Amino acid sequence: MKDRVVVVTGAAGGIGLGIAQRFARDGYPTAMLDVQEDLLEQEAEGLRSGGAKVLARKVDVSDRAKVDEAYADIRRELGPIAIVVPNAGIAPMVPFVDMSIAQWHQVLDINLTGVFHTIQAGVRDMLDAQWGRVVTISSHAGQSGGMHMSHYSASKGGVISLTKGLARELAAHGTTVNTVAPSVCETPQMHRAMDAGLFPLEAILPMIPIPRAGQPDDIAAACAFLASDDASYITGQVLGVNGGMYI
Ligand SMILES: NC(=O)c1ccc[n+]([C@@H]2O[C@H](COP(=O)([O-])OP(=O)(O)OC[C@H]3O[C@@H](n4cnc5c(N)ncnc54)[C@H](O)[C@@H]3O)[C@@H](O)[C@H]2O)c1
Repeated sequence: MKDRVVVVTGAAGGIGLGIAQRFARDGYPTAMLDVQEDLLEQEAEGLRSGGAKVLARKVDVSDRAKVDEAYADIRRELGPIAIVVPNAGIAPMVPFVDMSIAQWHQVLDINLTGVFHTIQAGVRDMLDAQWGRVVTISSHAGQSGGMHMSHYSASKGGVISLTKGLARELAAHGTTVNTVAPSVCETPQMHRAMDAGLFPLEAILPMIPIPRAGQPDDIAAACAFLASDDASYITGQVLGVNGGMYI
């Protein structure tokens, strides 16, 4: 079971790094993809030195040719792809009236089309094996909307719907497709928003019934469960890992 190859995007930091660390330490051959090459290699090397089997590739998930190239390397060096966690995403904030067409496209290209690319490039391996797991990372914003994040909210709503639609297509092929929806999780992205004064954590914490920000390990634990054989009868679901912020 632990020879199942996992692909995690956005794996150089934050939630994606937490997910990649979890799978790698659990013994899965793990491919880490990200645009931040140096940081990615540093994190991958840290895992390798602990005995994990890890491949790192610089990939922009919105570039299908680069995704396909990386997947060819993964198949050659680790084996066929069994588990995909398309996590890479950006979360810029801008009022809708000021949003440029370029800003709209950038968010949709990375957060939604990037998820399409990273799943589709690996799905034939799952069909061949008649076993697979896709765990997308959506967001509270895709469930109830995010202020000054209409493009982000649309992209994450799209991820939830993509997850549900694909779950129906792959269900008869031993492959489940679910999404984990965080609300507030402590990552470099969250700290960037706080530093820019866009994310007043003190004002937000009282809205979380379990009174703390989530940690990447919280999200990783849900991904590990959904990727396991224990979750073989769960598909098309949105699992909120959010301290009860969205119920
Ligand atoms: N942090 C939160 O509170 C929160 C809440 C809800 C959903 N999410 C979602 O979780 C995911 C991870 O968020 P995070 O907070 O860890 O963000 P982060 O910015 O801390 O990390 C994201 C990682 O993705 C990488 N990345 C960005 N664009 C990429 C691209 N085009 N191709 C490949 N890699 C790319 C970055 O280099 C970075 O390493 C995102 O999809 C985000 O929308 C986060």
